[in-house]
Amino acid sequence: MKEIKLETKIRICLLAELPEEELPVVEAALKATEQSYAPYSKFHVGAAALLEDGTIVTGSNQENAAYPSGLCAERVALFHAGHRYPDVPVVALAIAAAANGRQVGSISPCGACRQVLLEAEQRYGKPMKVLLCGTEEVIIAERAESLLPLCFGAKDLE
Ligand code: THU
Repeated sequence: MKEIKLETKIRICLLAELPEEELPVVEAALKATEQSYAPYSKFHVGAAALLEDGTIVTGSNQENAAYPSGLCAERVALFHAGHRYPDVPVVALAIAAAANGRQVGSISPCGACRQVLLEAEQRYGKPMKVLLCGTEEVIIAERAESLLPLCFGAKDLE
């Protein structure tokens, strides 16, 4: 039997320590929570994708009375980016959430979203930084793949 140890490096950065060039995408994710349609959970999630050319594309969770028909903010943002700018790599994705009109601590993408994050990263062959935005700190993964070890991807279909 062989044992393999998988390691993920995650950085936790105080908002005040965040490099200035990363502030717009973080602010856009928080702002996007205001466009969320979440009448059932009342949990408002915003996501902002930073493209290689500096464009920021946002998304928010869109719920449905038939619950599974709704979609998370991360997928709305990445599908929005893929549709509008199919040839421009996504280099970072920021995620923020709010409840009762206030931002909550950093949240982490669900499993289905992680798979979609991975596809966005592999599609362009460029690392996509993931920023999980809290009120005082941001949790940073340098690439989507680090959030999904032993992942299934395009290479498995070859
Ligand atoms: N949600 C997101 O949009 N992103 C996440 O990372 C976690 C959960 C949404 C789905 C649903 O509309 C609400 O938050 C409560 O689960």
